[in-house]
Amino acid sequence: MLKLGAVASVAMAMPFRGGLRADARPLPSLPLPPLPLPIVPFQVPLTVPPVAQPVRATRGGDIYQTTMRQADVEIIPGTRTRIWGYDGIFPGPTIKARTGKPVVVVQRNELDVNTSVHLHGGIQSHPNDGYPTDVIKPGGSKRYYYPNVVPAASLWYHDHAHGNEARSVYMGLAGLYLVSDELEDSLRLPSGHYDVPLVITDRLFAPNGQLIFIENDHGLGLRKTILVNGRAQPYFRVAARKYRFRLVNASNDRAYGLRLSNGGEMVQIASDCGLLPSSAAVSSFELWPGERVEVVIDFSAYQLGTRLILRNVAGEDPLTQTVMRFDVVGSAPDDSHIPHTLRPMPPAEKPVAERDFILSKDPRTGEFTINGEMFDPNRIDVRPRLDSTEIWRIHNASLDAGHDFHTHLARFRVLDRNGKPPAPGESGFKDTVAVRPGETVRILPSFADFTGRYVYHCHMLAHAHSMMGNMEVVA
Ligand code: C2O
Ligand code: CU
Ligand code: CU
Repeated sequence: MLKLGAVASVAMAMPFRGGLRADARPLPSLPLPPLPLPIVPFQVPLTVPPVAQPVRATRGGDIYQTTMRQADVEIIPGTRTRIWGYDGIFPGPTIKARTGKPVVVVQRNELDVNTSVHLHGGIQSHPNDGYPTDVIKPGGSKRYYYPNVVPAASLWYHDHAHGNEARSVYMGLAGLYLVSDELEDSLRLPSGHYDVPLVITDRLFAPNGQLIFIENDHGLGLRKTILVNGRAQPYFRVAARKYRFRLVNASNDRAYGLRLSNGGEMVQIASDCGLLPSSAAVSSFELWPGERVEVVIDFSAYQLGTRLILRNVAGEDPLTQTVMRFDVVGSAPDDSHIPHTLRPMPPAEKPVAERDFILSKDPRTGEFTINGEMFDPNRIDVRPRLDSTEIWRIHNASLDAGHDFHTHLARFRVLDRNGKPPAPGESGFKDTVAVRPGETVRILPSFADFTGRYVYHCHMLAHAHSMMGNMEVVA
């Protein structure tokens, strides 16, 4: 293991300028939480969320049934933690979908709070998008219809009930929704057991194992326990071959800078909305709340017995700098590929409008806002035309807080960041983009498939109740 000093200097040498944390200000009067449990890293094996089984397969698509409920689960070895989970597990069951083949999920709410289920990265009609005020009341249920018009991508579903999304996601309402298609199949990327999701979250545990939720930890970094697929800093025994990892940042407010402890190569193949135009070797990458990055790691480059730690170079201390460990323990045949060309980008559409979104904080209320306004479900902020493309210029005017901007319905390409072209890892289609303090990011969202009301918002969930706007896509 690297010593802290080495990690710190590695961190400083990395291109992560401030703003990875949600809000760097100290918070004056926080009720002091109990000390976090002392957690010894690498005590538990990584587990992978189970794949959901349809209750019925019809010609119109597969039908799933999920119940949101409380459950007591083992996250920290030897203790039980009360969670809110889809089917009582965290992360929830993984839904595997296919482009062009619809899926129906009937969601039943057995919690005592309102819920709304949003499929992040999906393109679905307004009534099926999990609009913040379109809630499922306790005891109620709702049928969500997903047409799966999107190409292969790692999507995720999570709670979106207005004002309660931060708590509900924190308590465990998040799961994976993986879409595959023919082009992806033809690439022969690592698959089956060698295609592994890594859902990363940070949590604060009381000594009795219960989760402590403080809506905005204001960058104090109280959530010091890093979980991968709902297990604290696990180890994962791998064969000396290629693996595909789908990383999802399902943390409320923490952004990560991820890197192998030896600086070893990872090949990025996908971002939020699926395959990049071409694969890109990286030694580190950032992952902001809501974002997805997929990498292939070839462990055949390492001797048996090698232990590689997945580090978070953006972490503020040794606890939060440690995500998980890969233990190279055996060998396995490998006929997978990492092609250079993945999914070529179509030519960019011509934008018909240009809009500005200023992310800042209202000095009077302390609430985060977009263009000076807090979210109001009854106020339409922008009206893009169906089948059009626009330029959205997003500027983060809060110098002490990073934000990341997520659009429902519309996927976008990143045009530029502070005037410079996007890095290879940001050159595919995305739905969530980091906007660090002082930065200006221009994106090119396209509004296709559905008219109606959708939200865009900061995916730092402590900000989302206010830092959210409404768009109405009009024909
Ligand atoms: Cu991942 Cu509006 O959310
Ligand atoms: Cu979304
Ligand atoms: Cu924000």
